[in-house]
Amino acid sequence: MPTRAEAAASAVTLPSQGAFDGEMGAPASRVDPARARQRPLPTPKPLSSHGPARIIAMCNQKGGVGKTTSTINLGAALVEQGRRVLLIDLDPQGALSVGLGVPALQLDRTIYNALMERQTSLADVRLQTRVPGLDLVPSNIDLSAAEVQLVSEVAREQTLLRVLAGVRSEYDYVLIDCQPSLGLLTVNALTAAQGVIIPLECEYFSLRGVALLVDTIDKVKERLNPSLAIDGILATMYDARTVHCREVFSRVVEAFGDTVYQTVIQRTVRFPETTVAGQPITTWAPTSTGAGAYRDLAKEVLAQ
Ligand SMILES: Nc1ncnc2c1ncn2[C@@H]1O[C@H](COP(=O)(O)OP(=O)(O)OP(=O)(O)O)[C@@H](O)[C@H]1O
Ligand SMILES: [Mg+2]
Repeated sequence: MPTRAEAAASAVTLPSQGAFDGEMGAPASRVDPARARQRPLPTPKPLSSHGPARIIAMCNQKGGVGKTTSTINLGAALVEQGRRVLLIDLDPQGALSVGLGVPALQLDRTIYNALMERQTSLADVRLQTRVPGLDLVPSNIDLSAAEVQLVSEVAREQTLLRVLAGVRSEYDYVLIDCQPSLGLLTVNALTAAQGVIIPLECEYFSLRGVALLVDTIDKVKERLNPSLAIDGILATMYDARTVHCREVFSRVVEAFGDTVYQTVIQRTVRFPETTVAGQPITTWAPTSTGAGAYRDLAKEVLAQ
């Protein structure tokens, strides 16, 4: 039985092996491998009470793979199912905050204050979004100082875990939007989380970083957080029309099997539009394919 890291390593030996021999994509099947995996999804059960939350880190050290987009839209889709959701922006770029219409640069207090000041709690800095039931802990460039300042703290990896304890009982899910690095902030997210969702863009270079990410997750699990698990790998920016995309997806499924969500997020210009609109796709374009995909993902997450 290969370990996850071995599976990931085999998934990244693409250019010289199997379907990738010779002309890129030549032997690929015309069948859409994502569609072929589709099974009916269970209808989520209604809840009678809330909390304590399952904490999920949305993590991939590669930039621009759909972490922030998936955090916002999975969060909004879970709220549609009657769940209370807290989104944590753990990226100094503040894209999650901006994507929800929050002018992050103008905020005096953000996640940075909750992490670094003993007298400030997460409840002090969290905001309500325009979507009822969806709350946000915002971030801005101030957070970039935390990476350096945390180094000298006692139990520096557990800082986020500690501050989350105060609000966990109020929510059903806490989703943490990580920055594209495997630094101390991301290790804090992995230490606080029970699950990791890895958004993965369907292209060859995305696969190369997965082995390193899985290795980091394994180390955090071993040394800091034994209950950490990879909840799933989410294929993003999927385009069934390209052979390359279909091949990469097939290799990911070969390597990770059922850890790959059956839901795939199609590439569509609707997502960049939602950032400008400052709201989730489920409210901006409720009947779009993208909104439907994140609703399906929510069903998968709720069924886990
Ligand atoms: N399915 C999609 N189809 C098309 N564009 C997308 C899709 N998902 C995300 N995008 C766009 O791709 C860009 C990167 O997405 P996003 O910010 O979610 O990635 P990220 O992994 O959070 O990036 P970073 O590593 O910089 O934090 C954004 O402009 C976003 O609007
Ligand atoms: Mg992001």
